[in-house]
Amino acid sequence: MSIADFIEDFFELDPENPIKLHEYQRNFLESDSKFRLVLKARQVGITSVVAWEALAYALIEPHMTILFVSASHRQAMEILNYVKRIMSNLRLKKEVRTLEETKQSVVYENGARIISLPNNPNTIQGIRAHRVYIDEFAIMENDKEILSAILPSISHGGSITIFSRPWGKRGEFYRLVKESREKKNQFVLFEIDWTQCKHPSYQQMVGEFKEFMPPLQFAELYSCEFVDETKSYFPYEIMFPCIDEDMTRPRPGMKLILGVDFGRFQNSTVITITEERGDCFYVRQIKEFLGVRYTTQLNYLGKLIEELDPKEVRVDSFGVGIRLYEELREKHGSKIVPVSFSNQNKNEMITNLRILFEDKKIRIPRDDKLISQLHALERKKGAGYVRWEPGKTDDYGRHDDFVWSLTMSVVKKYREPIRYFKLGEDESRLRGFNKEFKHTVISDEDEKSSNVYI
Ligand SMILES: Nc1ncnc2c1ncn2[C@@H]1O[C@H](COP(=O)(O)OP(=O)(O)OP(=O)(O)O)[C@@H](O)[C@H]1O
Ligand SMILES: [Mg+2]
Repeated sequence: MSIADFIEDFFELDPENPIKLHEYQRNFLESDSKFRLVLKARQVGITSVVAWEALAYALIEPHMTILFVSASHRQAMEILNYVKRIMSNLRLKKEVRTLEETKQSVVYENGARIISLPNNPNTIQGIRAHRVYIDEFAIMENDKEILSAILPSISHGGSITIFSRPWGKRGEFYRLVKESREKKNQFVLFEIDWTQCKHPSYQQMVGEFKEFMPPLQFAELYSCEFVDETKSYFPYEIMFPCIDEDMTRPRPGMKLILGVDFGRFQNSTVITITEERGDCFYVRQIKEFLGVRYTTQLNYLGKLIEELDPKEVRVDSFGVGIRLYEELREKHGSKIVPVSFSNQNKNEMITNLRILFEDKKIRIPRDDKLISQLHALERKKGAGYVRWEPGKTDDYGRHDDFVWSLTMSVVKKYREPIRYFKLGEDESRLRGFNKEFKHTVISDEDEKSSNVYI
């Protein structure tokens, strides 16, 4: 019996709902290559099929060690939970017992084990696995280290399956696919674009995306094309090393800054909560409101301010923002700071953000909306000025609210050039300056009360 038949005969998607494999899933399962590479569109069922395959092998082959490597703790846990769920609905006549279950692994009574870990080369290195699966390889920042950590297992006779969506013409995944197409490595390549998944609801959903999405984005997400990204001001290469898969939530006691972008449509608002530590910024939480009344939003913000006691709350004071800013300011005082959204100011904020990424002084969570809005942001040149406009993103249409909320929370405060007090200087020229300011010291209190952004 083939692995594909085993899966269809004994596994269920949900109770009483047997699995019927897609044709490309079956083709993939029937390949006996030790080196498999899958270039895939979103949501075509690859994580599922490898989880099924892994479980089938674990049940059939005693003492087999199977290792999953994912791009984050969360994904690693999701795969293992998925395996556990399929296991609980098995239609085998004879019960298979689990000897040990942890958050990272399952051991079955035949001695086979499935281990699922995030992409930490140090932990992976020590595991001698017979089968290794790497999920979303293209989005791993440490792709090179992961490959070298896994190669020893493979050289001991194991097999490796690497699968991912494309993510820019960069990185190891891109290289492996390119080499495989040119027959320069041992990997057998499976390319699964959206047209191959015949499920009617999938076809309908992606068909609709095709109407809305900019062609390049669609090409990357659904047509398996590696898109050249030199045009983006925030290319993936500079954002990648700054993504933190396991960012912890903001807590009182941290030096927190909130950036609040009040949306102009559909009552949409984005709040970004960033911790400032030394000269680095940690984006700890992003909250989006869609179609929620402004009063509810203000109540939520009020609670956040009370609970987290942020150092500042920077508010976009443009359009609808003015009224909301005034309301917040009245309630919470000088902590609430208006930010002007002039072309010049926006330009400086974006440049500042780009430098933070380049210098790796910002850490962001893997938030798809934030990353795609940054990547799509468009720079338009007018007569003597630069304008930043939202590009189309895969949450359909033109949005940039995640971008501005973030830039506000990390903007560097503009300061007057510091003037020294010189002895004997005409007093009138020093109006407004405290004579005590002989040095360039500005206390936190002074900074707070000035509240001026470019
Ligand atoms: N043969 C199948 N029949 C019906 N549903 C399926 C089949 N294979 C996968 N699915 C369903 O399709 C959905 C997407 O599956 P999965 O998450 O495995 O895809 P993926 O390609 O890994 O997606 P992503 O791009 O989000 O990583 C899930 O809800 C899964 O249950
Ligand atoms: Mg997946």
